Amino acid sequence: MSDTNKTDDAVTPQQASPSSDRDVLLKVEGLQKHFPIKKGILQRQVGAVKAVDGIDFEVRKGETLGVVGESGCGKSTMGRVITRLQDPTGGQVTFEGQDITHLSTAKMRPLRRDIQMIFQDPYGSLNPRHTIGSIVSAPFRLQGVEPEGGVKKEVQRLLELVGLSPEHYNRYPHEFSGGQRQRIGIARALALKPKLVVADEPVSALDVSIQAQVVNLMDDLQEELGLTYVIIAHDLSVVRHVSDRVAVMYLGKIVELADSSKLYETPMHPYTKALMSAVPVPDPGRRGQKSERILLRGDVPSPIAPPPGCRFHTRCWKATEICRTTEPQLLELRPGQRVACHHPENFADQAPQDTVLLSAAKEASELVGEAVLEDAGKTPAPEAEAEAGTGAVEETTAPEAKTATEAAATEEPADEQGDQI
Ligand SMILES: Nc1ncnc2c1ncn2[C@@H]1O[C@H](COP(=O)(O)OP(=O)(O)OP(=O)(O)O)[C@@H](O)[C@H]1O
Ligand code: SF4
Ligand SMILES: [Mg+2]
Repeated sequence: MSDTNKTDDAVTPQQASPSSDRDVLLKVEGLQKHFPIKKGILQRQVGAVKAVDGIDFEVRKGETLGVVGESGCGKSTMGRVITRLQDPTGGQVTFEGQDITHLSTAKMRPLRRDIQMIFQDPYGSLNPRHTIGSIVSAPFRLQGVEPEGGVKKEVQRLLELVGLSPEHYNRYPHEFSGGQRQRIGIARALALKPKLVVADEPVSALDVSIQAQVVNLMDDLQEELGLTYVIIAHDLSVVRHVSDRVAVMYLGKIVELADSSKLYETPMHPYTKALMSAVPVPDPGRRGQKSERILLRGDVPSPIAPPPGCRFHTRCWKATEICRTTEPQLLELRPGQRVACHHPENFADQAPQDTVLLSAAKEASELVGEAVLEDAGKTPAPEAEAEAGTGAVEETTAPEAKTATEAAATEEPADEQGDQI
C-alpha cells in the first residue's frame, strides 16, 4: 500500500514560515477551542471536546484559503473562533497586526465591518419573519452606517450585485430557493465591504448545479471587491478551483497546508492522499484510466480523547511506532507545502530508522483498483460521487461522536445572526 516515492528533495524541514507580515491579513497561532463537558449537580468539568487543538496558519491579503476535512474535525468551530463569534480556549488571533484574541464584544464591534461570515445553512441563517430588505440592511443599522444614497438604495444595489432583483427587497426568505437564499446571505455579508469573509460550507446545502453558480459568484465578487476568503468545505472538489492554498484538517489539527496545485499534484500527508483519491477526476484525458482509491478503515476517533502521537495513526496504513508516540510537527518540507507526518508521501522519510509498521496499520486501509470496485458494485455513480466528494473515506462514527459530545458539552455556539454584526 505504501507507495512513498522517495525523492531527492534534500530540503531541510522548516518550522512553518509565514509570508511577510505585510501580506498577512489574519494570523492564527496555537489556536485551541475546547468545549467543557460537565456532569452532576455541581456541574464539575469531567473532560473537554477538543474541537480545535492547536492550529497555526495565516491568510494573506486577497487570497482564498480552502479548509477541508471530514465532518466533526473542527472546521466550523475554527471559523467561528477566527471571526471571534466564539472565544478561543488558547492561542492567538491577529487581524491586520492587531491582537483580537480577547477583545470584548464592544471592542470587536468596529472590526465586525471588516470580518464577516457566511453560514453553512441558507435555510436557518435568515430570520423567516424579516424581509430581505431588513435582513440585508441589518449590518448598516447595527453599525450605525448611512451609505451614500440611503440604506434602501444600497441594499438594492447589493441584491443586484449577487444576481437578485432589487424588487426582492420586500419579500420574505421562504419565497426563495436555497441558492437564492445563499445569495442573500452573501449580500448581507458584503454589505459593509469587509476585508475578510469566512464562508462555512457556503454551497454544501445546494444542488450541484447551483453550487457552481454560487462559487463562481463568490469568485467574481472577490475580484470586484478585493476580498480575502476562508472557504470551509468537506468536499475537496468544491475548493479545488477557487483556492490559492488549502488546509486539510483532521481531528482538530491541520495536517497539511499547501498551495492548491501542489496539494492536488503531490499530496504529502497520507490523509490528504486518501481524500484526494476519492475526488472524481475531471480531466477527460484521464478518464477511463485505471485509478486506485484508498478506502480508510476504522472509526474517526473521538475529539474528547484523541489518539496520542499522530492523531491519524489509528487509520493510517503507514503508521509505525514513532507515529503512536510522537506528534509530528507541521513542517515546511517543500516551499509552499507544510505537512505533519513522519513518513510523508512523495518525499524522503522523516523517520527512516523506524520501519516496523504498527499491526493495526496493515489493516488500516485498502488500496482498491476501480475494476475491483466495479466488481463489488462499489463504484459510486458519478453524480453521487460528486456530491459525496470525500465519499471513499468511511465516516462511520463521526455523526454519533458529534451527537454524544454535543449532548455532553455545555457551551452553546454563539447566535450566528445576532453576534456577528
Ligand atoms: N457548542 C458546542 N459544544 C460542544 N461541542 C461542540 C460544540 N460545537 C461543536 N462541538 C464539537 O466539536 C467538534 C467539531 O465540530 P465542528 O462543527 O466544528 O465540526 P465540522 O468540521 O464543522 O463538521 P461538519 O463538517 O459536520 O460541519 C465536534 O465533535 C462537535 O461535536
Ligand atoms: S505520522 Fe505516521 S500515522 Fe501519521 S500520517 Fe504520517 S505515517 Fe501516518
Ligand atoms: Mg461545520
